Amino acid sequence: MTLEFTLTRSAQPVAGDTRQGVLAEPGFGRHFTDHMVSIDWTVDGGWHDARVEPYGPLQMDPASAVLHYGQEIFEGMKAYRRANGSVWTFRPEENAKRMQRSAARLALPQLPVDDFVEAVRQLVEVDEAWVPEGGENSLYLRPFMIANEVFLGVRAAQTVRFMVIASPAGPYFAGGVKPVSIWLSTEYNRAGKGGTGAAKCGGNYAASLLPTQQAAENGCAQVLFLDESGSDLEELGGMNVVLVKADGTLVTPESESILDGVTRNSLLQLAADAGHTVERRPVTLSEWRDGVADGSITEAFACGTAAVLTPIAALKSPDEVIGDPDAPAGPVATSLRKQLTDIQYGRADDRHGWMHRLTGAR
Ligand code: COI
Repeated sequence: MTLEFTLTRSAQPVAGDTRQGVLAEPGFGRHFTDHMVSIDWTVDGGWHDARVEPYGPLQMDPASAVLHYGQEIFEGMKAYRRANGSVWTFRPEENAKRMQRSAARLALPQLPVDDFVEAVRQLVEVDEAWVPEGGENSLYLRPFMIANEVFLGVRAAQTVRFMVIASPAGPYFAGGVKPVSIWLSTEYNRAGKGGTGAAKCGGNYAASLLPTQQAAENGCAQVLFLDESGSDLEELGGMNVVLVKADGTLVTPESESILDGVTRNSLLQLAADAGHTVERRPVTLSEWRDGVADGSITEAFACGTAAVLTPIAALKSPDEVIGDPDAPAGPVATSLRKQLTDIQYGRADDRHGWMHRLTGAR
C-alpha cells in the first residue's frame, strides 16, 4: 500500500521577488524552497506519517544516532522545466532503487520505490514556482534518510526519518561547463573491498573532504581516488569518471566500491546508441597516463547528477600532469552532454522513456 501524504503549507513562503532573484542566479546548494517532505519509520510501525511541511530546522536530540555513527544515506536528482512550463525529472526509479541498495548496506529500512517517487512529486508540486526556467538551471532534489533514534549503543537505529529538500541550482562547478583539472590523491583512498563505496552515504563524502581540500590547494576542482592497491581508477570525490579513446571506445572503472551513477549509465547508453563501444572494467592509472602520451586516449570527463558531464582537461599529482590543463572540451564529451541535456529539458526525443512528468502539460 502506498503512503498518503498530508500537506501543511508554509505560513511564511519566500516573497516572489526574492525567489525570482534567487532563481536568476541560484548557484549550487545555497537556497532552499518553502517546503520539505518527511516520512517517519519505526521498527514496529514501518513507514508512516508522510507529510509535506514548511521547510525549517529539525529539532534533534543530541543523542540521535546519526550525529554519532553517521547512519545516513542520500540521493541527488533534478527537476527540469520545459519550454511549455511543465516540470519533469529523470529516471527517478533508478534513484529510488539505489537508495534501497544504500539502505541495505547502512542497515537502514528500504522505502518503497513508489513512495520515494511520490515524495519527490509532492514536493515539486507544492514548490513548483522554485523550478528555474531557461539555461541549464534546475531544481536540485536531495532525498536523504537519517537514523534519529535517541540511543548511543552501536547498532542499527529503530527509528528513522526519510526527507526530501529542494534547492534551485545552476552549474555545480563555478566555471560552468569549462573543462576542469582533477587532483590525484596518492595518499588517501575513498573505499575498500567490502566497504561502503557503492552506497551513497554521507561518510564516503566526509572522507573525501580532506583530499578535496588538497585538490583545491593545487588548483583542482575535484579529487580522483585510486583503489587500495594504488593502481586502478575508482571515482572522483562526488562523481564518476569516463575516458574516451581515439577509436571511439568509452572506458569507465567497474568495481564493487564505486557508486553506480545514474548519469554515467545514461551517458554510456547514449554513447552505445551512437555506435561507441563501451567498456566497464578495471582501468589503471598507467592506462590513462600512457594513453594520453601516445594519443590513444583523447578525452576524459566527470559525470554525476549535480555536475552533469564536465570535461577533465588534466589530471595532476605532485609528480606529474597527465593532459593539458588548458585543453578545450572534446567532441565526444560535448556531444554526449548535449544529447543528455536535450532529453532532460524535453528538446530531444526521450527514446528510452527516461523522463517522468511531475507537473504541467506534456
Ligand atoms: C550528485 O551529483 O547529485 C551528488 O550527489 C554529488 C554531490 C557532489 C553533489
